[in-house]
Amino acid sequence: GQHSSSRGSLIVFEGLDRSGKTSQCGKLLSYLKGEGLSVEAWRFPDRSTGVGQMISSYLANQSNLDDRAIHLLFSANRWEKRALMENKLQSGITLIVDRYSYSGVAFSAAKGLDIEWCKAPEAGLIAPDLVIYLDVLPEKAAERGGYGTERYEQLEFQKRVAEHYKTLHDDSWEVIDGCLSMEAVQQQLRELATNCVKTCQRGKPLVSLWS
Ligand code: TMP
Repeated sequence: GQHSSSRGSLIVFEGLDRSGKTSQCGKLLSYLKGEGLSVEAWRFPDRSTGVGQMISSYLANQSNLDDRAIHLLFSANRWEKRALMENKLQSGITLIVDRYSYSGVAFSAAKGLDIEWCKAPEAGLIAPDLVIYLDVLPEKAAERGGYGTERYEQLEFQKRVAEHYKTLHDDSWEVIDGCLSMEAVQQQLRELATNCVKTCQRGKPLVSLWS
């Protein structure tokens, strides 16, 4: 059973724009809540902070920033939430997070920035217990209701992002075929998340990312 001292899990969703992450996160959140779990949905960028507003304006093409400067802002946006994230996890709350450091690296590397340079400012953030990568071909993602008007929503760019994501897979990653039906994907996610939550409740330690 769940002990008051047991920690929550950090479950991260990654994937291209229009890969279905946001819908699947919402469904997983409702399911886990229904199972009686303490769970919250987070997302990065968190556009509610001052840094987040700078990012949001950049993404909407309302401002221009140097590639390294925007990279560091995305990272700072995670750092400003790190302490709260740790407190929530330690108090037993599971976090389902729509994008994290892997987006930070894959999107910036797709612009031609060095991967190690991109990873460096992420080192020391909390490592996810589970990363769910929703795998869809860039061409398929582009067809799904079309892209919006945000800066990175372009097929050629998304293809490069997909290539960089592939270099970031580690033991915490589960690649799910995002072209299966909504229900089939969700079924797999529920099983993965449930197992992850149990492992963390049994005392799996929190560790740092890339350090
Ligand atoms: P969103 O559509 O999930 O809100 O993400 C906005 C865009 O920002 C999306 O194209 C991915 C990109 N992004 C980065 O380039 N670096 C990051 O660190 C994050 C979290 C997102």
